[in-house]
Amino acid sequence: MEERTVTTARTAGFCFGVKRAVDKVYEQIEQGKTPIYTYGPIIHNEEVVGDLESKGVRVIHSEEELKQLKEGTIVLRSHGVSEHIYDLIRERGLKCVDATCPFVIKIHQIVKKAAENDDEIIIIGNEDHPEVRGIRGWCKKVTPMIVADLDEAEKIVISEGKKACLVSQTTFNYNYFKEIVEIIIKNCYNISVVNTICSATEERQTEARQIARQADTMIVIGGKTSSNTQKLYEICRKECKNCYYIQTVEDLYHSDLRNAKNVGITAGASTPNKIIEEVQKYVRREF
Ligand code: F3S
Repeated sequence: MEERTVTTARTAGFCFGVKRAVDKVYEQIEQGKTPIYTYGPIIHNEEVVGDLESKGVRVIHSEEELKQLKEGTIVLRSHGVSEHIYDLIRERGLKCVDATCPFVIKIHQIVKKAAENDDEIIIIGNEDHPEVRGIRGWCKKVTPMIVADLDEAEKIVISEGKKACLVSQTTFNYNYFKEIVEIIIKNCYNISVVNTICSATEERQTEARQIARQADTMIVIGGKTSSNTQKLYEICRKECKNCYYIQTVEDLYHSDLRNAKNVGITAGASTPNKIIEEVQKYVRREF
């Protein structure tokens, strides 16, 4: 029988920041530090959050809930939080494990400094995204302008004599960021533009495209509602017509993989390694 080649993307699954955050919660569990809370779900993956819950980790969803706590450890997720959340944790005597991604911390520092200089602050991103809400919370007394699209970019005006500082949500699309910045700089002369987009998403997409191009069968693993997995699937389907979008290995049980000779595997940012490995093992075995 002809050998089957299985290529798994190096960038499949958790990015560095998310992996670090999930690991930090498991470290706390191992150290027996209870009660443990995460400020928001540590990751958009029900299986991981469920596993953590079964080990006693609770998710808190709001400042109000945080204010009710009298003891325990709060793990801050990779998206980061406003500066005053750190104060609240400290005031309540709770222990803080900060799993904010270092790339997001860098943005907090940039806007904090800009606010201290009383500069205007522009954030390119989605105002409802927790990362953007967190960044906003480091701008002190300056109210940042949040820009999500070209129309909003046209409306940006910087007061005379003021300097502006522009940053971006880490997961924003780079090409769109460039278009938005071009519009804004036409109207603002004294502006410092810092590209704070993280390359993890783009690298995952580029690698998926390359693997799918060479594969006769492509498997994309991730939650059905995960927008970054949907995007990966779209990219892969364009390159490889035999493309499967699965959540766990069980979704493959009824697929006919007999003719698959060259299989590529990638996974969205919230897919745990364990699931990727199970799929890999199954595909290697199943003819
Ligand atoms: Fe992940 Fe941090 Fe980038 S959380 S997507 S490595 S900004």
